Amino acid sequence: MNQDVPAVQEQLELIAKQIGQLLDVHVYLDDQPIAGPGSTITEALLDRLSQIDPQRLHFSKEDLTPGEDGFVGEILTKYLKPNAAQIAIDAGIGQDLSVEAREMAARKVKDIFESCRYLTKLDLNAIADLAGELLDRVASLDAAAFKLHDLRNYDEYTYYHSVNVCVLGTTLFREYISSEADLIELGIGLLLHDIGKSKIDLKILNKPGRLTDDEFAVMRRHVVYGYNLVKNNDEMSQMSKDIILNHHERANGMGYTRGLTEGQLSFFDMVAAVCDVFDAVTTDRVYRTKMDVHRAVSILIRGSGNQFNTKVVNHFLRGIGRFPVGTFVLLNNGEIGVVSRINSNALSLPVLRVIFDAEGTRMPQPHTVDLYEQRELYIDRPLDLSYSPAQHVLEDPNPPV
Ligand SMILES: [Fe+2]
Ligand SMILES: [Fe+2]
Repeated sequence: MNQDVPAVQEQLELIAKQIGQLLDVHVYLDDQPIAGPGSTITEALLDRLSQIDPQRLHFSKEDLTPGEDGFVGEILTKYLKPNAAQIAIDAGIGQDLSVEAREMAARKVKDIFESCRYLTKLDLNAIADLAGELLDRVASLDAAAFKLHDLRNYDEYTYYHSVNVCVLGTTLFREYISSEADLIELGIGLLLHDIGKSKIDLKILNKPGRLTDDEFAVMRRHVVYGYNLVKNNDEMSQMSKDIILNHHERANGMGYTRGLTEGQLSFFDMVAAVCDVFDAVTTDRVYRTKMDVHRAVSILIRGSGNQFNTKVVNHFLRGIGRFPVGTFVLLNNGEIGVVSRINSNALSLPVLRVIFDAEGTRMPQPHTVDLYEQRELYIDRPLDLSYSPAQHVLEDPNPPV
């Protein structure tokens, strides 16, 4: 696991110089992943790493081997794998909240969670202000160019997850929701959907390894704890409160806590379920790969019509596209591009910025190709920019709770 990486101390010093940047190695505590490529390097992460006995800390770069793909494999290894996010940014791909806006929002969510740890009542003003602020920012984003975020912060997962779910839901479903007031209610519910986790023992909440059955049972109580925090709040709408209580219910009645079925769930509840699972699958990991997006999409497709409401899944998938913004793709002429915009009437024919020519040379000036207009060009396949960690890392130790 330690091959080709500097000693722990050297690696920590290297990471310390990169605060605000994205990590490009896997970090393990014993054999448990605690951070990985794509995680944002924060003071909190460094603090945590420096408190761990160096004997127990491991760093690993699991390099993708070029394989049989010839130059595509070489490009993946040479340019794309560690730098894919930067290459996409350089080419002006995607719209998302700024890193600062996301961090600021996550900090505020953290304050709200921490206040709930000791209090029994919630300050709705702070939450409504934050939801309003996020919605203002989201409203200025072009939904067809909405990029699934790359910001990862494993340490403060729950807070970032709350912000992510809120941004996903309000961006992808805003055209479905008729009034500004309803959108704010959705935003508040999504921001707070996991607020009950503030009542869960931190030892269980932050446990890096697999949860025992008993610990899972405790974790599952977060929906009821959360609802108890808000149920007597007269200012919060019942719609927002129900998202907290019902986001783990499933359309087929197989969810928890009450085993409600589709007819008993609101549209908001079902939007929350889909956005929650999607974000959990794509972020509740120490590594960030496009494979995770494909895996998350297949979970939604498989669950459509049983676990999840079909209309909600279809709309969600139309929003993120067959090839989400930011996906690197190989074209039939050998060029490599990155998806910059979804064509909502032709999900397999997005707009691309072409970054590498057919010889594998990075173009100084990427150009734009609209596959809907240029029908002689098509996507041969999306390029898997995933790292290839050992199977034990690929296994998700805990399903989303
Ligand atoms: Fe939850
Ligand atoms: Fe959640």
